[in-house]
Amino acid sequence: MPIPPITLTPPFNVVRCAYIDLGVTDLDAAQDFYDSTLGLVTTTRDPDAIYLRALEERNHHSFALRKADVATCNALGFRVATPGDLEVAYDWFNNGGLDADFVERPYQGRTLRAQDPNGSVLEFFCKMDQADRLLQKYGTYRGVHPQRIDHFNCFSPNVQTSVDFYADLGFRTTEYTDTDDGTELWAAWMHRKGTVHDIAFTNGVGPRLHHVALWVPTALNVIHLCDVMATTGYLAHMERGPGRHGISNAFFLYVRDPDGHRIELYASDYLTVDPDLEPIRWSLTDTQRQTLWGTPAPRSWFEEGSVFPGVAVRDPDLKAEPVIAH
Ligand SMILES: [Fe+2]
Repeated sequence: MPIPPITLTPPFNVVRCAYIDLGVTDLDAAQDFYDSTLGLVTTTRDPDAIYLRALEERNHHSFALRKADVATCNALGFRVATPGDLEVAYDWFNNGGLDADFVERPYQGRTLRAQDPNGSVLEFFCKMDQADRLLQKYGTYRGVHPQRIDHFNCFSPNVQTSVDFYADLGFRTTEYTDTDDGTELWAAWMHRKGTVHDIAFTNGVGPRLHHVALWVPTALNVIHLCDVMATTGYLAHMERGPGRHGISNAFFLYVRDPDGHRIELYASDYLTVDPDLEPIRWSLTDTQRQTLWGTPAPRSWFEEGSVFPGVAVRDPDLKAEPVIAH
């Protein structure tokens, strides 16, 4: 059985995915894309970094974009409930043979930096500086009207290992894809916050970030962004969609930032808080899994991603290929 039992009393309390930390090679280009085009709001721009938030977010940032020589995903940020959770997490990682250490991060409290068993870099925090509430300042809405960060999706060289690890931390699986004989996981979607996912894993060369997603109010916001990007020099940055996922039911568009980091605009998934919610199984060969309307994803979508700095990647253990557009 590829899906482990749920853990209702995990060792420490992860609330949700909360920020992405990306290395970008040109801060001005990044600000034009994330702020002026997507519609995120710049909370602070420092000489070497831009911190942005979406419209309903009270935290100082959900996107930290740091000047770098090469594009990288520096960390996946998760909020925990209490300062004590950070202490428990420190011991839990180190006692389990996984390195974890406290680091300093601007505009947020004590932060624990760790790696999961496949090498993805994680940061956990419980306090962040607060910013103005913009939800009802409708005059500030631009771009795709992004409301909040929704989830991370990562390439994993062994999805079963990833799922087992995050299940121990209380993440619950909502949907998954496995091989036709039901013995090996190809992808899984897992949550803490009561939506389809906070993090998902796709079989592939990893660990790498596949994409980070922004939740947007409606499909019409996504279509408007398509019109904007198609007429402001960003046509080539639209990689896949718009469309409707089979998995998650979300209306989606995948775009690439100036450094190639992949961003998903994501609307209308569903509530998953009931602990006995049965995970939904999908077949790897079902094209409606990717897109309800049947259109396969392009090859780049299965092959390109953002590396974690200094973390070696490896080929996936499972050799199985989904349906790919030609
Ligand atoms: Fe996604």
